[in-house]
Amino acid sequence: MLPQETIRRKRAGEPLAPEEIARFVSGITDGSVSEGQVAAFAMAVWFKGMAREETVALTLAMRDSGDVLDWSGIDRPIADKHSTGGVGDNVSLMLAPIAAACGLAVPMISGRGLGHTGGTLDKLESIPGYAIMPPADLFRRTVRDVGCAIIGQTADLAPADKRIYAIRDVTATVDSVPLITASILSKKLAAGLRSLVLDVKVGNGAFMAEAPEAETLARSLVEVANGAGVKTAALITDMNQPLADAAGNAVEVANCIAFLKGEKAGTRLQRIVLAFAAEMLVLSGLETDLAAAQAKAGRALSSGAAAETFGRMVHAIGGPADFVEKADAYLAPAPVVRPVLASAAGYLSACDTRGVGLAVIELGGGRSRPGDGIDHRVGFDRLRPLGTKVEKGEEIGRVHAAGQADAARAAERLSGLYRITPEAPAAAPEIRARISA
Ligand code: URA
Repeated sequence: MLPQETIRRKRAGEPLAPEEIARFVSGITDGSVSEGQVAAFAMAVWFKGMAREETVALTLAMRDSGDVLDWSGIDRPIADKHSTGGVGDNVSLMLAPIAAACGLAVPMISGRGLGHTGGTLDKLESIPGYAIMPPADLFRRTVRDVGCAIIGQTADLAPADKRIYAIRDVTATVDSVPLITASILSKKLAAGLRSLVLDVKVGNGAFMAEAPEAETLARSLVEVANGAGVKTAALITDMNQPLADAAGNAVEVANCIAFLKGEKAGTRLQRIVLAFAAEMLVLSGLETDLAAAQAKAGRALSSGAAAETFGRMVHAIGGPADFVEKADAYLAPAPVVRPVLASAAGYLSACDTRGVGLAVIELGGGRSRPGDGIDHRVGFDRLRPLGTKVEKGEEIGRVHAAGQADAARAAERLSGLYRITPEAPAAAPEIRARISA
């Protein structure tokens, strides 16, 4: 079928057969389908949507546009997590080694910051020597010997997604549930997973601000991933404040090390990380019960096994052998660190979380244009959670900046991003819903 006929049929709302979708995607990959045709197809999907079977077919065709990793010979279940992105969301850094210490193999293909959200790769690049694009055999060896490796997407993985995404980005067609679903899952499926857990963020620091949108995306991801043969569940989690008490790059790695050393017990971050670890263990079949799985993940953390696994992963991928022990000596400090003070007495009752992400970018910790360099040293830490009672002038966080002027600007900005009220806010659960097949 000619590409223009596929576009016409989708524009008319007719269902596309899997072979027709596969042919169109193969034309995207080999360049025979033009940029204009990809844009027209994306816009037709944006308006007419796709049935589940069509989204599964699109996902599989995009997965098969490049290499599909094969983990045969590794006798651990292959599992992963994907987040739709947030602020202070460094869950992957701790979750991968916890899951690996519990017996899973986690080949985690991560991304850079997108919009106001941080990216796992940018955070890992704060670690001297950590090579986010290792050769394929080193990636494989690290997953086999250590149990986890977090790296970037190679050009050979789902190349059709790369082309479609770049065109969607400039044709107002990013926010289409079937297109987001196929984009995220094609890359995850190409990583050769057997099970997957999805962290769909909702709130003022997420791409999906409202619960119904987040739930629609979560259902689509869960149904399509299961339809494509990967056991998948999603947790919808709160993003109405930074998740970790840090937002930036080196500061989030420092937060991860403190977490792995047991210094973040009782936090929202720990509850979320352990909930995801439990989901991974149950979905992969290593455990049958979520409570028992969570207890196992907790032991991997408290015994130091997860910290040791993280250290081995960092070293295997080019970082220092003693990074966990001496992270402070390896993470470059910002020239200026200053407190951010509460503007009034009362309770921290709301946070403009997207604003926090944008403030990190303004400090130089994120990009305003693709390909920009970033300053890994800058950001915020010691952020107090919502519900904290503060006095006027009390520290509610710290800013790490390249210079005094930036620090002063960011401190004032952060202070204005928190609302302080005389009454304590209602407690918001960090996990809003669980969506499974
Ligand atoms: N992340 C992706 O990888 N693809 C999308 O379409 C949106 C977010």
